[in-house]
Amino acid sequence: MELPFAESWKIKMVEPIRKSTREQREKWLKEAHYNVFQLKSEQVYIDCITDSGTGSMSDRQWAAMMMGDESYAGASSFFRLKDTITRITGFEYVIPTHQGRAAENVLFSHLVKPGAIVPGNSHFDTTKGHIESRKATAVDCTIDEAKDTQLELPFKGNVDPKKLEKVLAENADKVPFIIVTITNNTAGGQPVSMQNLREVRAIADKYKKRVILDSARFAENAYFIKTREKGYENKTIKEIVKEIYSLADAMTMSAKKDGIVNMGGFIATRHEDWYEGAKCFCIPFEGYLTYGGMNGRDMDALAVGLDENTEFDNLETRIKQVEYLAKRFDEFGIPYQRPVGGHAIFVDATRILTQVPKEEFPAQTLTTELYLEAGIRGCEIGYILADRDPVTRENRFGGLDLLRLCIPRRVYTNNHMDVIAVAMKNVFDRRDQIKRGVKIVWEAELMRHFTVQLERL
Ligand code: F0G
Repeated sequence: MELPFAESWKIKMVEPIRKSTREQREKWLKEAHYNVFQLKSEQVYIDCITDSGTGSMSDRQWAAMMMGDESYAGASSFFRLKDTITRITGFEYVIPTHQGRAAENVLFSHLVKPGAIVPGNSHFDTTKGHIESRKATAVDCTIDEAKDTQLELPFKGNVDPKKLEKVLAENADKVPFIIVTITNNTAGGQPVSMQNLREVRAIADKYKKRVILDSARFAENAYFIKTREKGYENKTIKEIVKEIYSLADAMTMSAKKDGIVNMGGFIATRHEDWYEGAKCFCIPFEGYLTYGGMNGRDMDALAVGLDENTEFDNLETRIKQVEYLAKRFDEFGIPYQRPVGGHAIFVDATRILTQVPKEEFPAQTLTTELYLEAGIRGCEIGYILADRDPVTRENRFGGLDLLRLCIPRRVYTNNHMDVIAVAMKNVFDRRDQIKRGVKIVWEAELMRHFTVQLERL
């Protein structure tokens, strides 16, 4: 008999988690204005709000922390991190930042001017925020198929080359760079193929533009290339990663995801002029160039995390857990963005809460229902997160309205996945009784989903 699949690690330290009663959750959620970001973590049983900064570090990462060099300038921790990034990506210039959005802030302060147009696949909300707050426009050129949650495609995060070419043909002089997010978080943690990255490169070369990869989940993207794209079956993850970056000019990185650290990020590039430009913004915003917002010990933990998470076994364990949860959802007929992505399941709220009008935010409503059911915290990646159109100030209902259940790396067991699946099934089974959603009573101008205050209708 073939041995079953099991995790490529064992557990050395545990953290207790607590259950609550439905009554308690009703009270807490009301106090949080029906916004799960405003809950206290103690009020949550299984936390799927994000896979960002929530992973478990390995014994080797904790050991590396002890070697942290906290020197203000020239810390050896920085050089260990830089050498690892250069070895893995081929990029020579590295600027550490405190997290991914800080990398965007520093690099975009140099590159994005008012009136600029920045095409790519779906921009993550902070990326879009950093573009729009500079009075520039982010153009989403993701393939149309990504909008159909039930369509099974291996690389649903891809850029549509025709859409990209059109933006460049019409506005080349306004485009400072193309940005491709791997994996495509907003479209459901969907990967981008190597073939697609090659096509983007060719278009970029034709218009003499540079390509940035928003790389929060680059290793998971490489796993999907290895397991789904012809010709990559026998390549190592590290070989695939090297090839990915050979097609790009720079990366912004939220190390809180595929770096498996709790805090950290960086910019890396092959171009000295971009490094020189970004440098001037790193010092005032983040800190001196050899720490840029990170502790020495965190840079060491990140160097080890990057190495570990570009190994197949670690990635396989992670992705298989997400797939396990998806299989449980399949058993119950719960619709989600198919095929399941790398870091999360994106439940298709509009297919479940069919009676809740879009103006009452179905995905946000489903998020609150799942929390009330079992203390499981997901988050809305939908109409609230989409913010208002900066010009018309209308809600943007054009995209998908999803409940995202993120799986932190190396944190929960498949028993926890079973609890999530059954809780979701219980909500799904009473979907016809849910007829009303929520209404916004207070919102911020940008990135409103973090602080929005809602009332239940
Ligand atoms: N790019 C992508 C694709 C992301 O998913 C994130 C963060 C960022 C950039 C920004 O990085 O948080 O380190 O500043 N995503 C988290 C999430 C917050 O929950 O998906 P950051």
